Amino acid sequence: MSEAKYRVYLCGGPHCSAKGLGGLRDHLELELWNHRLDACVDVFVGSCQDHCDYGPNMLIWPGPYRYAQLNRATLTEIVEHHLRDNTPVQHLLATPEMRR
Ligand code: FES
Repeated sequence: MSEAKYRVYLCGGPHCSAKGLGGLRDHLELELWNHRLDACVDVFVGSCQDHCDYGPNMLIWPGPYRYAQLNRATLTEIVEHHLRDNTPVQHLLATPEMRR
C-alpha cells in the first residue's frame, strides 16, 4: 500500500488530452522528482472531470482541490507550494464558475 501524502488526478479525458495532458504529466513527474516528492505524491490519469471548457484540469486529495487551465508554469507552482509546502495555491484554484 502506498504511503503517499497526496493523490493527484490529472484529467485524461479527450478535451484535456488535446490540450497537452501528456506533456503536462511528464512535467509534473519531473518536478516531483526534482523536489524529491515522487514518493510522497501518487499521480493518476483518470477520465473526464466534467469541466472540459477549463482544462487541462487536475484534482488533488486530500481535498478536493481543483486546479484548472494548467500549464507547465502553474504545475511547477502547485508542486512547490501545494505539494511541497502544503499550501494550496489560491490564485490557481478553479473559480466557482469553473466548478459547475
Ligand atoms: S476532458 Fe478534462 S474535464 Fe472533460
